[in-house]
Amino acid sequence: MRHFLLNMMLVSALTVPIHAWANEAGKSKAAAVCSVCHGSNGLSQMPGAPNLAGQPEMYVREQLRAYRSGKRQNEMMTIIAKPLTDDEIADLSAWYASIEIKATVK
Ligand code: HEC
Repeated sequence: MRHFLLNMMLVSALTVPIHAWANEAGKSKAAAVCSVCHGSNGLSQMPGAPNLAGQPEMYVREQLRAYRSGKRQNEMMTIIAKPLTDDEIADLSAWYASIEIKATVK
């Protein structure tokens, strides 16, 4: 039991800062490269560019990989995704997924 608790404490001590760091890295990369079209808060700034705020992490990651590999084609996103590393894709996906959005039905 003592080992279990100790492990839990170590795991949470390690995972929290790593996650926060991923969001910070994703946030600054997104601000520099993506915000012109997708907005600083992940809400689209351009006709044709979708909202990314609150999208599932796995979805954003898979789309960026598909643009990078050429499986999904778009004249803008193909160029944007080409130089992204796996780490940058993970950071960006974590950042957009972390933005909370609220849907209201009228
Ligand atoms: C010059 C404008 C522009 C920039 C800059 C840009 N995007 Fe895009 N993005 C688009 C457009 C336009 C689309 C829609 C493309 C399509 O129809 O496939 C898109 C689509 C996407 C999608 C697919 C979303 C979905 O709903 O399927 C993701 C994910 C994405 N962009 C992420 C990013 C990230 C991350 C960055 C920064 C590294 C970025 N984009 C920079 C214009 C841009």
